[in-house]
Amino acid sequence: MKDEQSPLVIIVSNRGPFSFQQEEDGTFSHQRGQGGLVTALAGVIDHYDVLWVAAALSEDDEKWAIAHDDQPQEIEGTRLQLVRLPKEAYDLYYNVIANPLLWFIHHQMWNIPRKPDIDKSTWAAWHDGYKTINRVIAEAVAPHVNAAERQVVVLPQDYHLYLFPYFLRGLIDNPKVQIQPFIHIPWPGPDSWRLLPAEMRTPIFDSLLNADRIGFQTERDAFNFVQTCRFHLPDAHSRGSRNSIEYQGRKVHAASYPISIDVDKLQTLTEEAETRLLKSRLAGIASDNKIILRVDRIEPSKNILRGLQAFRELLETKPQYRGKVQMLMLLVPSRMDVEEYQSYLQAVMAEAGMINAEFSDSFWEPVRIIVGNNYPRAIAAFQLYDVLLVNPIADGMNLVAKEGALVNERNGVLILSENAGAVYELGEHALVINPFDIHSTALAMDQALKMSAAERETRADAMRRQVLDANVRMWFRRQLDDAVAAIRNAEKPKKATKKATPSN
Ligand code: G6P
Repeated sequence: MKDEQSPLVIIVSNRGPFSFQQEEDGTFSHQRGQGGLVTALAGVIDHYDVLWVAAALSEDDEKWAIAHDDQPQEIEGTRLQLVRLPKEAYDLYYNVIANPLLWFIHHQMWNIPRKPDIDKSTWAAWHDGYKTINRVIAEAVAPHVNAAERQVVVLPQDYHLYLFPYFLRGLIDNPKVQIQPFIHIPWPGPDSWRLLPAEMRTPIFDSLLNADRIGFQTERDAFNFVQTCRFHLPDAHSRGSRNSIEYQGRKVHAASYPISIDVDKLQTLTEEAETRLLKSRLAGIASDNKIILRVDRIEPSKNILRGLQAFRELLETKPQYRGKVQMLMLLVPSRMDVEEYQSYLQAVMAEAGMINAEFSDSFWEPVRIIVGNNYPRAIAAFQLYDVLLVNPIADGMNLVAKEGALVNERNGVLILSENAGAVYELGEHALVINPFDIHSTALAMDQALKMSAAERETRADAMRRQVLDANVRMWFRRQLDDAVAAIRNAEKPKKATKKATPSN
């Protein structure tokens, strides 16, 4: 699709596909960004004419941007531009509004009798942080849209950029543009948005409705969005539709595009020397024990703590597993400037420590935690698990469930939260749990560990097929096809409507 006729695709996100590090000799090395958004997008863009615009997140990212005159550069086949942003504004945008305020609303994690407190400093963060950063990023993208003499599809990603469509609309004059945000996280129902004052939530909904089409992970999220707009915007009407909103003379579509993984890339990565080496190291643990694995950002919505509590219950009630099963947790540090994340990490470490103190013996440690952002290590561990625990409180999709299902070599059993988007595709073949129900999670662990080889094989095969059939390339392609079709539709000369002849 990379030819003159193909649209220019501009992905806009807070976190970019790579972070940079300046070496002593002044050159830059780079590392892949973390999280579901980058994992999914990095895999799909090589067939398209893509410009990826993201925030410069560190001083070295900024140095990289300066070294390239703030212009896009090609890195591993991706044309990337990092936008340098005012530091204080960025801190308010990322650490006060996006995470935690919006993230916690989306995942319904506020303990509302106590939090959130929307005080003077939150308002300052809204005006001087969130709005500012969305505007500055729109200003960096607009020249690319205006300079393109062809179709442009702009794909702002996630909750960091809710005001971006509004700002961009005001800055562009290219009629052949589609603005199509994709929301990677769950969209809660209308009542959850009451936590935000109207002066914050209205601009968010109004800005999103400046887009042409909004992508969500599941139909449930798209429906919740439509309901939210109907409820909170007096001028928004759905006219009975579950997936579109009419607002101020425009019709905006809410579509579901369930995200997936890059099957080929992931399979290739399993063959790489680094992954093999890491696998042989982990294989030592996996030969002595059955492995219950979890791979997550250190993130309260991932429900790591209740996973540990369920494992504790398993060891307490089924002593036969002591000395034979290990919970291996690969945890990626995340958002450590946000107080809720710091205290969550402390609680996780404390609980793991208590379990180890209580149950370990000279040959066996029940919980093993490895902290760090190492994708090859995660892939190595995926190949080796007997049970994969994916128990988020709420999750847009959860790619760990799909990555594990694809590369696991032991017909491992997936324990999956009913609140992860992945449940719609994999739930039938997984053991589905309510993430708050620690007792049932412990029972599911027991069921998984003693499941017959034949049943494990049937379930694992079905999940693998499901993942193979829904490649992330299709996820991206469908969004672009819809965008291009919408641009073409808008270009078509409108048929003159026949004047009605009065019948009498
Ligand atoms: C989730 C979000 C992404 C985010 C990622 C990592 O997957 O949907 O937008 O990039 O987490 O979080 P971080 O704050 O480190 O970018």
